Amino acid sequence: MPKVRILFDRVRLEEKMLEEKAVELGHDTKMIDAKTTNISTESKKSDFDFGDVVLERCVSYFRGLHFTACLEFLDVPIFNNLQVATNCGNKLLTSLLLKKHNVPTPETHFSFSSESAVETLEKHGYPLVIKPIVGSWGRGVILLKDREIADAIIEVRELSDGPLDRIYYLQEAVKRPPRDIRAIAVGDQVIAAMYRTSSGGFKTNIALGGEPVPCEITKELEDICMRSSKAVGGGILGIDVMEDEKRGFVVHEVNNTVEFKGLAKVAKRNIPKEMIEFAVNSARR
Ligand SMILES: Nc1ncnc2c1ncn2[C@@H]1O[C@H](COP(=O)(O)OP(=O)(O)O)[C@@H](O)[C@H]1O
Ligand SMILES: [Mg+2]
Repeated sequence: MPKVRILFDRVRLEEKMLEEKAVELGHDTKMIDAKTTNISTESKKSDFDFGDVVLERCVSYFRGLHFTACLEFLDVPIFNNLQVATNCGNKLLTSLLLKKHNVPTPETHFSFSSESAVETLEKHGYPLVIKPIVGSWGRGVILLKDREIADAIIEVRELSDGPLDRIYYLQEAVKRPPRDIRAIAVGDQVIAAMYRTSSGGFKTNIALGGEPVPCEITKELEDICMRSSKAVGGGILGIDVMEDEKRGFVVHEVNNTVEFKGLAKVAKRNIPKEMIEFAVNSARR
């Protein structure tokens, strides 16, 4: 029986569910705390107990990403792999890949200074949605309704001046019902999907109180999700889809360490089971 390892930095309900399911399926299962594991250029796979396959489940994107690089260095099979984690963790890279692979995605503008961002905003007109290129739970995703709000956000970014603050990701505000769709793709299948209805605000994230409502996995939804998965390199993914009133489905995000406690409540299939079986079977090949 393959040994399963779950890499974490904080144990959420999802990591507990994955651990329990792996044990239930009969795998030797261990949790690996990324915060207390040291790796070096001199390390060998045999120095550690990384098992036969690792599921990367860190809450911190950068921690998970860099740990993934170390595991690939040690030739430990990991989901998702470094390329996929890189593609998904950065919204700019994701948008480019989706478009390149002809997946319908919102029109998005990239500016690399505050002056250029203002130029884009003035040329395009309001509203536009600004997003940090790395982030989740809807943090920092803001509907720029007018120049005043835009100036305020740009000013704050100039003050904080983090390494990603001068990269402006400005997206059309999609005309959609007050909900979006979260689908989970595992390998070549969409295993679960839900609508997330917003609790009043602009954003529909479950982390912000969005309500999970079951969503039928139609042929069309399956198709756009599989194409999105292929675009970023495949694996275990959470795909965010909006229903544009004219164009139909548009994909705005692909998540590489997908949260699923909301979806697990309404899904027909067992999400952690599907994830573990996929990882184990892929690592065997
Ligand atoms: N272009 C957009 N038009 C309308 N709503 C959007 C748009 N982009 C994001 N949203 C809303 O904001 C939420 C968070 O945006 P998302 O890109 O998924 O960032 P995060 O990685 O923080 O989840 C989405 O789930 C959706 O409800
Ligand atoms: Mg999202």
